[in-house]
Amino acid sequence: MTSLTSSLIAHHKLCDGLYADAEAAAHGGHWQECADALQLFRKEIEAHFATEEQVLFPVFEKATGVTAGPTLVMRTEHDQMRRLIGDMATAQANHALGQFAGAGETLLIFMQQHNMKEENILYPMCDLSDDSAVECRQQPARAAGGGVRCVIDGRDLLPPEPLELTLAALDVLPAGGELLLQLFCRPHPLFQILRRNGYVWQESVLGDGTHEIHIRKA
Ligand SMILES: [Fe+2]
Ligand SMILES: [Fe+2]
Repeated sequence: MTSLTSSLIAHHKLCDGLYADAEAAAHGGHWQECADALQLFRKEIEAHFATEEQVLFPVFEKATGVTAGPTLVMRTEHDQMRRLIGDMATAQANHALGQFAGAGETLLIFMQQHNMKEENILYPMCDLSDDSAVECRQQPARAAGGGVRCVIDGRDLLPPEPLELTLAALDVLPAGGELLLQLFCRPHPLFQILRRNGYVWQESVLGDGTHEIHIRKA
C-alpha cells in the first residue's frame, strides 16, 4: 500500500493546483476557463475519492475491523467537499464571483485539513494496517486496550503544528486507539483541550528531554 499512499499524497498536490487554476480564472473573470478548470478538478478529485473509498479504506477497515471510525469521518468529509464543489459549479454557471469565492474558500480550508489528517494519520495507519493494527489487537501490551496506535513526532515542528496535528489525529483515532505525542516541552494548552473533551493522558520524560504524552479516550 505504500506506493498507493505516496501516489495519493502526490495527487493531493495535483488537485490543489487544479483548484488554484479554477480560482484564478474566476477572479480574472474568465468564466469559460474557470468552467474547464473546475471540470478537470472535479474529475480528478472524484477519482481520488473513489480510490480511497473503494480501495484504500476497505484495507484499513478489513484489517482493524473498524468501520465507524476514521474512514467514516473521511467518507463524510468527502461528501461535504462534493457539496461545496457543486456550489462552486453553480456559482460558475451564474458567473457569481462572491458565491464562487465563498464556497471555494470553505472548500480550500476543508481540503487542507482533510489532506493533513490523511497524510499524517490515516495513510500511515493504512500502511501499517496489514500488520501493526492487527498485531496491536492481538498483543494488547503494545497499545493498552487494543486498537491502533499512532505516533506524532512534534519535536522538529513549529507551533501550532504539533497541536493541530494532534487534534486532527484525535478526530480520526479509532475507539481503543492510542496517540503518542513526542515534544521537547509540556503542551499546556493541549492539556486543557484534552481535559475538556474527555481524553486522558500519561506523561513521561526521556533522557534526551523528549516529553512523551500517551493520549486515549477516557
Ligand atoms: Fe480523502
Ligand atoms: Fe486524499
